[in-house]
Amino acid sequence: MTSKLQAVRGMNDLLPVASPRWRGAEQRLQAVLARYGYEEIRLPLLEPTELFARTIGEVTDIVEKEMYTFLDRNGDSLTLRPEGTAGVVRAGIEHGLFQGQLLRLWYQGPMFRHERPQRGRYRQFHQIGAECFGSAEPELDAELIAMTAQFWRELGLTGLHLQINSLGSREARAAYRERLQTYFRDHHAALDTDSQRRLETNPLRILDSKNPDLAALIGAAPSLPEHLDAGSRAHFERLCTLLDGLGVAYTVNPRLVRGLDYYGRTVFEWVTDALGAQGTVCAGGRYDTLVEQLGGRPTPAIGFALGLERLLDLLAATGIDPSVARSVWYVVSTPGACRMQALSLAQRLRSEPDAPTVLMDHASGNFGKQIQRADKAGADVALILGEDELATGTVTVRLLRAARPTQETVPQASIQATVNRLAAENCP
Ligand code: HAM
Repeated sequence: MTSKLQAVRGMNDLLPVASPRWRGAEQRLQAVLARYGYEEIRLPLLEPTELFARTIGEVTDIVEKEMYTFLDRNGDSLTLRPEGTAGVVRAGIEHGLFQGQLLRLWYQGPMFRHERPQRGRYRQFHQIGAECFGSAEPELDAELIAMTAQFWRELGLTGLHLQINSLGSREARAAYRERLQTYFRDHHAALDTDSQRRLETNPLRILDSKNPDLAALIGAAPSLPEHLDAGSRAHFERLCTLLDGLGVAYTVNPRLVRGLDYYGRTVFEWVTDALGAQGTVCAGGRYDTLVEQLGGRPTPAIGFALGLERLLDLLAATGIDPSVARSVWYVVSTPGACRMQALSLAQRLRSEPDAPTVLMDHASGNFGKQIQRADKAGADVALILGEDELATGTVTVRLLRAARPTQETVPQASIQATVNRLAAENCP
């Protein structure tokens, strides 16, 4: 017996029933991005494996154990992108986009991580991300974070909380790393195996541990803010002042370190407790040295990415439907000559740039059956073309969702005006 073919574990189909909500959310986010001057960049899903090792970091969870990596037919090692920042930086250097002036880019699409699937955590997931290059000023951090706050306002979401932190300069972080290593080495036996491994490779990530048995130990660890360099401290204080001025509420979380190596100074996460364990909906931070590290000219930068599955889940949990409503007209006709007229009427209506969706009934059956199908298809207007209408060059416009039965027979040229008038008359 052949086995049933199924989607790859952790990779979801997005069915038509859900796609209007996705498209609506995406459109609203894109509209905000446009207002802040961000332009879209579209990049390959596959990149050389080395790109991710050199950006995200050799000893991160993503690079160590979550990447979809394979040799292609030429023997080159390629990886399905686990995130978008590395590719944007690669493309910016390759195409000479970093010329000193501010460059604002956004992207959207699937990312791939071989994680253990659960609610809010998938192996193919979708991000909308934004990256801004060319300024190290905290004003840019504030503008970018305020833009993410605007996302939630635009969608009507209120249950997200902003956490921010500063990781400091590379040098300050290196010094802190040593302090932390010394502290955790002194408590080696109390660490779990994951943290023992991280102790030598990436001790800051121990602070991120979700193991409740380690909470007290982590709580007593040397704190990152106390080890910040003066420049980073001033930068962070200024950012806090700016966010206060903009009315963006936040919590400083000194344990927020993020799971990717390229960050320095500002990091932030928008979290909710409405989604269970995977509550981070949007996350990002500064990566002022990454462009130079990859061979570009020194270009400070900050960005974030938002997980669309988590955002859509949160919207559903909050009872918000971000779909952009679209009017549907349904052309109903009797077989024969009327059908031809109906086809050409539908064709003509759809050629208008602001046309609604115009559906044609392609099954046989009387008007009653066709109206039932119109209703099922979600139509709000039926356009009826029978022998009488054919003879007089008219059409009968019927509102399907009106409180009381409403229809009128009018010349074909005045369909839109009639729909508008009848709808207005029917408003409660
Ligand atoms: P990240 O924290 O790895 O950062 O991912 C950003 C967001 O993507 C997460 O907060 C979450 O909403 C979503 N996400 C991540 N992994 C999964 C998954 N397995 N399933 C579902 N959603 C997921 C980055 O990717 C950075 N590139 C963000 C950035 C841009 N920093 C600077 N610029």
